[in-house]
Amino acid sequence: MKKLTLLQTLIHIGSLFSLAKLFFDYFTNNFSPNPIQDLEQQTGFAAITLLILSLATTPLRTLFNWKAPSKHRRALGLYAFLYATLHVTIYLAIDYAFDLNLLIEATLEKRYTLIGTIGYLLLIPLAITSYKWGMKKVGKNWKKLHRLVYLIAPMLILHFAWARKGDIFSLQGNVLQPFIYALLVILFLVLRIPAIRKKIISLRK
Ligand code: HEM
Repeated sequence: MKKLTLLQTLIHIGSLFSLAKLFFDYFTNNFSPNPIQDLEQQTGFAAITLLILSLATTPLRTLFNWKAPSKHRRALGLYAFLYATLHVTIYLAIDYAFDLNLLIEATLEKRYTLIGTIGYLLLIPLAITSYKWGMKKVGKNWKKLHRLVYLIAPMLILHFAWARKGDIFSLQGNVLQPFIYALLVILFLVLRIPAIRKKIISLRK
């Protein structure tokens, strides 16, 4: 059996921390008077954080020649998908009891649920093709397909900001966290532009 590295151990423990906290809060009655909202917010926050961490791995290699995190990009992405699925399941099953009419109405009515739904639907093929079976199915289109994350991440940042009942563009409302996450996503995307990446690597060398 392969030995876990320290970074790998930290990634697994860190990723599962939010899940453990949810169980802890449940068994110790540590939720607010609106536990469904707590569950939605905690799982949503874990999902977006892990998605951003998965996007940070390549820039870390570009900036500091730190290659180890790139090996765990897939694990971070799949943990993000796990939390996103929990988040969506809580919304569908607990918040709306799978009432299709109500769900369609609520999803179309609020811009944050609409963009969240599109973002989640786009994440599904990425998660499926992160496994060997899925990778084989898409073959050489795998890289192109996974570039979708550069579109999905900004969409989900907007979902985050809009869910906070704020406006990330005019900085109104409780949008400091989504604003910081938006800056990080912009930075990570800019650092992927080939000309910028090459320049940084040559400066570093
Ligand atoms: C079908 C798709 C989705 C639906 C219907 C949905 C719905 C919701 C709802 C109802 C909230 C809580 C709003 C409130 O505070 O009352 C929320 C918040 C949030 N969602 Fe989603 N969501 C979806 C997909 C996603 C995905 C894919 C992610 C991330 C990968 C995500 C990340 C977040 C975040 C970060 C928050 C805010 C948490 C906070 O306030 O700290 N959502 N979403």
